[in-house]
Amino acid sequence: MSIAARTPPQPGDALAGLTPATLKAIEAARPGYTPERGKAFLAFQSRLAGELLNHRVIVANRYTAWFSKGEQNEAQIRAFVVQFSVFSNQFLIAQLNKVINADTLEGMRASKEILANELGVAFRKPGESRTARAGGYDPEHVDTEGSVQGGIFHFEAGHIEWLWSIAKHLGLSFDHIGRRRHGTPATRFFCDELIRLYGGESYEISQAASYAVENWAAAGFWKELTEGFSRYNATHGTRIPTGFFVWHDRLEGQHARHTQEELEEYYFQGALDEDAFIRYGNEMLDGVAAFWDGLEQERQVLASA
Ligand SMILES: [Fe+2]
Repeated sequence: MSIAARTPPQPGDALAGLTPATLKAIEAARPGYTPERGKAFLAFQSRLAGELLNHRVIVANRYTAWFSKGEQNEAQIRAFVVQFSVFSNQFLIAQLNKVINADTLEGMRASKEILANELGVAFRKPGESRTARAGGYDPEHVDTEGSVQGGIFHFEAGHIEWLWSIAKHLGLSFDHIGRRRHGTPATRFFCDELIRLYGGESYEISQAASYAVENWAAAGFWKELTEGFSRYNATHGTRIPTGFFVWHDRLEGQHARHTQEELEEYYFQGALDEDAFIRYGNEMLDGVAAFWDGLEQERQVLASA
C-alpha cells in the first residue's frame, strides 16, 4: 500500500470541484453555505454537464467547423459578416434590457460594463492612465480586462465599427449591415430569443440564459472564426482585419473563469430551480443553434455563387 493511500480522507474531499471561493464560504459557514449544499451543487453540476452543456451548438457546431477551414467563397464570407452584424446590433437591445431588468445595483453595473464596452468605451485597468493607449482602438491592442469606469469612449472602438471595417473590405456598404431587416428568419429568431430570455424580465430566466450564452461563447467558436479569416486571407491574398474575432476570443478566455463562480454564488445564495434553469438554458441554446443552422443553410445555397 502506498503512503498516499493510507492518508486519512480529508473532510473537503467530497466537495472537490467547487471553486476556492465557495469552499472558503463553506468553511466560514456563511449563510446558505453548508457541506450538504456543496454536495447538492456538485450533483447539479453533473446534471448541467449531461443536460445542458452537451447541447449540439456547444459540442458540435457544423458551421464554424466548416468556416475555420477558410474555404468559403466571397458570397459566403459576405453573408456571414452581414448576419453577424445583425446579431451584434440586436445584441445591444438584449443587453440594454438586461441593464434595465437588473434587480441589484451590482447586477445593473455588470450589465452596463458589457453594454458600454460594446458601444465603444474601452476597458481600463485600475491605475491605468486616462490618455489613449498606443494602438488606439484597434481591437488587436484594446484591453479585455478592467472596467468601463473612467474609460474613454471612441466611436471607432464600438464593436459594430470593428465589424464595419471587415464589411468594407468585402465591398459591402454601411446600409447593407447591422439592420434587422438584413437578418434571415433564423438570425432574427436568435436575436428575439436573446431579447426574450437573456434580456428578459425574469431574473431566473435571464440567469439561465446568461450561463448558457457564456458557455457557448467560451466553447471555442471565436477561434474557429479567426482561423477561417486568417486562412481565407492567406488563400486570397487579402488582409481582412481579424481583430474583432481575436478580441472576443481573448475576452471569453477570462469570462469562463468567472462563469463558474457566478453560478455557484447564485446557487448557494438563492433558491435555484434546477429543472427550470436547465430548461431555459436549453431554450437559449436552441436559439443560438438556429442562428448557426441558418448560416449553414445559407452557405449551402451560396456554394455555387
Ligand atoms: Fe462584442
